Amino acid sequence: MNHKTLKPFPKDFLWGASTSAYQFEGAWNEDGKGPSVIDKASHPEGTADFKVASDHYHRYKEDVALLAELGLKAYRFSIAWTRIYPNGTGEVNKKGIEFYNHLINELISHGIEPIVTMYHFDLPYALEEKGGWSNRETIDAFVLYAKTLFSEFGDRVKYWLTINEQNTLILHGSAIGTTDPNIQNPRKMLYQQNHHMLLAQAKAMKLCHEMLPNAKIGPAPNISYVYPATPKPEDVLAAQNFNSIRNWLYLDMAVFGRYNSVAWSYMEEKGYTPHIEEGDMDILAGANPDFIAFNYYNSITVKASEQEEEAHSTGDQHIVIGESGVFQGCSNQYLTTTEFGWEVDPVGFRITLREIYDRYHLPLIVTENGLGAYDKLEDGDVINDDYRIDYLAKHLEQCQLAITDGVELFGYSPWSAIDLVSTHQGINKRYGFIYVNRDEFDLKDLRRIKKKSFYWYQNVIKTNGAQLFQTAK
Ligand code: BG6
Repeated sequence: MNHKTLKPFPKDFLWGASTSAYQFEGAWNEDGKGPSVIDKASHPEGTADFKVASDHYHRYKEDVALLAELGLKAYRFSIAWTRIYPNGTGEVNKKGIEFYNHLINELISHGIEPIVTMYHFDLPYALEEKGGWSNRETIDAFVLYAKTLFSEFGDRVKYWLTINEQNTLILHGSAIGTTDPNIQNPRKMLYQQNHHMLLAQAKAMKLCHEMLPNAKIGPAPNISYVYPATPKPEDVLAAQNFNSIRNWLYLDMAVFGRYNSVAWSYMEEKGYTPHIEEGDMDILAGANPDFIAFNYYNSITVKASEQEEEAHSTGDQHIVIGESGVFQGCSNQYLTTTEFGWEVDPVGFRITLREIYDRYHLPLIVTENGLGAYDKLEDGDVINDDYRIDYLAKHLEQCQLAITDGVELFGYSPWSAIDLVSTHQGINKRYGFIYVNRDEFDLKDLRRIKKKSFYWYQNVIKTNGAQLFQTAK
């Protein structure tokens, strides 16, 4: 639909930027922090690990000052579970609480709204040793952790995100290092884990509403609309299949408290249905999110599955292969790709926003969107990342169109605020508005350098989105 006039971004729109603890903080074993599954995972050769990352743990004041200069209204970060509970449960680590108190206070003193992800891929290793999410006790550990976060930080944090990209954990765990690649046929186990995570999320949402009546909480999956390759009915069915398995399974449960019927029949067909204990469905039905947060990088295109193909993941969480009898991933001839092979689809972003809002009628916030690229540091500390500006401006343009379509969008928090280490492709796959001066293995001075996109986004925020295509500096 073409609109004669576009609605402006809402007056109090949350212009944000995002990071996650393990990719950004470093200090992986300092001040009592326990190991997480990420710390123990084997890391792809030739890429930086997460031990130092961007050293935010030691530089958070300088970083927050830069985010304030950028003009951010909100900052989305995750709390490392293992800083709070080094063993996943048991004793609280006071130093961990202290760090996040300082960070939250620093943000608030600069007028930046903290948006907290409670769990971003980094499950405590101590819990993993006891079966991780396969063990129902992990649900209790998450609830205990949630309770601690709400009571320690709930006086200042109004926005909570439960689990980052639960669907990525289930579908592409081997790409991010959370699924053991040696396990044969892990799907049955993963859907059981999924059920437990859904329960943990539901309990945390309920607890949040009881403990913090003024706070808001929601899920944060990665949602990308799935297109059929052609109008051939079999391709459309394949797209419906993957939309249900990848997207709606997670949101139908978070919002309606029930399993999506197509996703359930897929699990039945494949023998993946989880064991459900008495009372579980009541818990799932008894929790309600206040909003939906979601991450979007690209759309997905599929066709009917013609060949025996069981692999779900290529080792990259944004490239889809397929599954026999269900769908077959394919490229979309109408889209370009990034240097890392990810398709770029701003219009698909509008489609995804409309689709989510039509299904659930809850306020939406985008908690990740961005372009990973090899930035070049030029003489005089200059980074001309026009490609990033182009990507973000085109996606924001689609946000405004979606708002005009009637979508209730209250914030946009791209990935990433400052450069950080990619999930599996190192530090040189950069996303930030601010460059971190280090290489994969040479830490250099880790100094922060504002990129061209910094000045562009600063102006976008200053004009409340009225000048998306104006490049500054
Ligand atoms: C999302 C994750 O899937 O994609 C982030 O929530 C991640 O943690 C981001 O960094 C970009 O992916 P990558 O692999 O380029 O780091």
